[in-house]
Amino acid sequence: MDECRPILNTGLRGFTVATTKISDVDGKAGKLLYRGYLAKDLAHGTSFEEVIFLLLYERLPDKKELADIKALIANEMRVPQVVLQALELSPKNALPMDILQAGVAMLAQHDPDVTEYSREAALRMGLRLIAKMPTIVTAWNRIREGKSPVAPDPELGHAANFLYMLTNEKPDDDITAFFNAGLVLHAEHSFNASTFSARQVASTRAHMYSAITAGIGSLSGELHGGANTRVMQMLMEIDSTDKVDGYVNNILKTGGKIMGLGHAVYQTDDPRAYILAPMSKQMGERTGNPKWYELSELLEQKGKEAFKREKGKEIYVNVDFYSASLYYYMGIPIDLFTPVFAVSRIAGWTAHVIEEQFGGAAPKPVLYRPDAEYVGDYCGPDECSFVPLDDR
Ligand SMILES: CC(C)(COP(=O)(O)OP(=O)(O)OC[C@H]1O[C@@H](n2cnc3c(N)ncnc32)[C@H](O)[C@@H]1OP(=O)(O)O)[C@@H](O)C(=O)NCCC(=O)NCCS
Repeated sequence: MDECRPILNTGLRGFTVATTKISDVDGKAGKLLYRGYLAKDLAHGTSFEEVIFLLLYERLPDKKELADIKALIANEMRVPQVVLQALELSPKNALPMDILQAGVAMLAQHDPDVTEYSREAALRMGLRLIAKMPTIVTAWNRIREGKSPVAPDPELGHAANFLYMLTNEKPDDDITAFFNAGLVLHAEHSFNASTFSARQVASTRAHMYSAITAGIGSLSGELHGGANTRVMQMLMEIDSTDKVDGYVNNILKTGGKIMGLGHAVYQTDDPRAYILAPMSKQMGERTGNPKWYELSELLEQKGKEAFKREKGKEIYVNVDFYSASLYYYMGIPIDLFTPVFAVSRIAGWTAHVIEEQFGGAAPKPVLYRPDAEYVGDYCGPDECSFVPLDDR
């Protein structure tokens, strides 16, 4: 054992493992840039399809390119019938993220590009996944509710199509714009846990679908993408503003977490949170039920105060905090919040898989293979001597 080697028991925090040209997160300044553009600028009025183009083709599209990518995605949204049949056979209480992960793995079986290792094939697979994941998520929700899946409408944009396939009703412009902003803001966030998972798998030269199923698994956890569902469950548990103080104090005393607060990178409020918060507020007013927004606002304030009091340091709000009430107001089922995150983050994941495998930033694709320091038994100074089963 090399005594001088540093032991990193830090979840790789603060260690740079690669270079990327896809996005930059400035944790101190609270800035998020996609290929040089501020995400907050893109969130106001830029379609999710423009962001997909930006992430995958490294620049914003012109009008024709945007029309082309929209048509391409719309034409790829349908999933093979056998995939829908498999969803029909799944237990109705299956977790939607498990269904999505399994659905993506099934899609691989129908994609002729899985055996071709090229940038072009990876791009085609990535675009198919971007197109088909909303179909799986919405079809699953309808199937578990005993309804038939709704086929995508090629005339609708990506955001509107998701809501249409979920409800069988065309959403109005405001709701579509809010949902589109949510998709834009969740599309990419550098080397977060799920993106790193996807890149790590991609580094073995496994195909796009394998990398993305790893990303979906990673995103499902409550410390990562699963937090948005947990935020809404927490709001429902608290239920009224007079219980916020008691809830916060109890959580901090028992070593629990206030979901939607804290971030591994931001040392200030997450810039995405305060773009989504006013949308949640507007949806609260529009639905005549401001309770969930007001509860969120108070919980943020009280949570921050109590954290400072208990731990002597600041804690900040993250993207999941206000997206929860926003999605809830839109009528999206609570356990679909994290799949909605995946329907957006697939844009960033696919860009990263392509960058990992075919360069763009790194000098040459590498296989991730970190070290771990063995701290287990040696049975003395040497290795353990093996004892056959009968003699133990
Ligand atoms: C996201 C998260 C994992 C980042 O955590 P982190 O960088 O590991 O934070 P740290 O471990 O440095 O936390 C420092 C301290 O703050 C506490 N803390 C961090 N987030 C907290 C939260 N949301 N509520 C209560 N305490 C929290 C930790 O328990 C730790 O306490 P300790 O020093 O007494 O052990 C964490 O903030 C968290 O779990 N948040 C809630 C889940 C969430 O919203 N996830 C979505 C992230 S986008």
